[in-house]
Amino acid sequence: MKPSRYSARIEEIRDLAPNIRELTLSLVDPDHRTFHFLPGQSIAVEIEPTHAQVSSVRYYSLASPPSHATRLTLLLSLADQGDGATYLFEQSEGDMVQFHGPHGTLHLRATEQKNILFVATGTGIAPFLSMLSAILETTPAYVIRLIWGLRSERDVYYQEELQALADTNPCFSFVTTLSRAQSTWVGETGRVTDVVARLPSVEDLAVYVCGHRTMVQDVTRIVRAKGHCPIYHEQFSKSQKHGNDGV
Ligand SMILES: Cc1cc2nc3c(=O)[nH]c(=O)nc-3n(C[C@H](O)[C@H](O)[C@H](O)COP(=O)(O)OP(=O)(O)OC[C@H]3O[C@@H](n4cnc5c(N)ncnc54)[C@H](O)[C@@H]3O)c2cc1C
Ligand SMILES: NC(=O)c1ccc[n+]([C@@H]2O[C@H](COP(=O)([O-])OP(=O)(O)OC[C@H]3O[C@@H](n4cnc5c(N)ncnc54)[C@H](OP(=O)(O)O)[C@@H]3O)[C@@H](O)[C@H]2O)c1
Repeated sequence: MKPSRYSARIEEIRDLAPNIRELTLSLVDPDHRTFHFLPGQSIAVEIEPTHAQVSSVRYYSLASPPSHATRLTLLLSLADQGDGATYLFEQSEGDMVQFHGPHGTLHLRATEQKNILFVATGTGIAPFLSMLSAILETTPAYVIRLIWGLRSERDVYYQEELQALADTNPCFSFVTTLSRAQSTWVGETGRVTDVVARLPSVEDLAVYVCGHRTMVQDVTRIVRAKGHCPIYHEQFSKSQKHGNDGV
């Protein structure tokens, strides 16, 4: 089935760190006032032709849970300074964007494993925020651990929100690890792969991985070497790789 096309107004913009921005979208089209998706799925945002040479789309994971069907949160990185990110960073509150969806193969599964491990770098945390919120809205049947990799202190965000979730939900814990920490950081240092390598076992564990492409490969290899368990990550289609996928 072809995904539907939606119009949304940018309700709120929050700068979380240099080159990292949170966008809250509000659905305005009377025919499409709610958006249904699975926790972890993404949308394809249309990029204006003035930025891209031809009209194109870029995919962004929803960081909000499906229960927020009229207000959607995106987490954007400007790191690559390509057409898509530049276009979205130029938008202001009140501006309109068009998107279609839902898309994506990375979504929460009803696994028989009782332990969930989320491994993310950078904005790869977005789908896990959606999944985490969705799980914690129910009586959680899982023990959830998040390992999140960022570069240095200036890149750190969402720590208070994650700590508040950990404080109020004993089933959830997280570690943020910095690969290029300066002297002020008192937390974990190194890459997420270093933390994953120290896992004692993958028994009764389902692993979800999202972020830097080589990190996904490396984490998969490390987990596989420890034993058999399900590992979920985005399966990229040809159109997603090239950023072109017309409505
Ligand atoms: C399912 C999915 C979910 C995603 N979710 C998120 C998310 O939640 N948040 C997020 O920030 N991103 C997410 N992404 C990535 C996002 O879709 C974009 O790829 C990202 O924003 C970069 O797009 P861009 O247009 O800015 O850069 P692009 O135009 O794709 O360019 C990327 C880099 O390549 C360079 N480049 C481009 N074309 C050429 C060329 N011809 N020759 C040499 N260099 C070139 C650019 O200068 C830039 O440095 C997701 C991707 C997928 C597939
Ligand atoms: N659904 C999806 O598929 C989805 C959703 C959201 C985001 N994304 C993707 O996630 C990425 C986010 O980019 P970002 O700029 O925010 O951050 P990023 O590049 O993902 O994260 C930077 C961190 O990743 C580390 N890293 C790089 N390669 C690694 C490896 N092989 N093993 C372990 N750690 C590694 C870096 O360590 P060093 O400092 O040592 O290099 C640094 O700490 C983008 O590529 C985006 O497309 C995908």
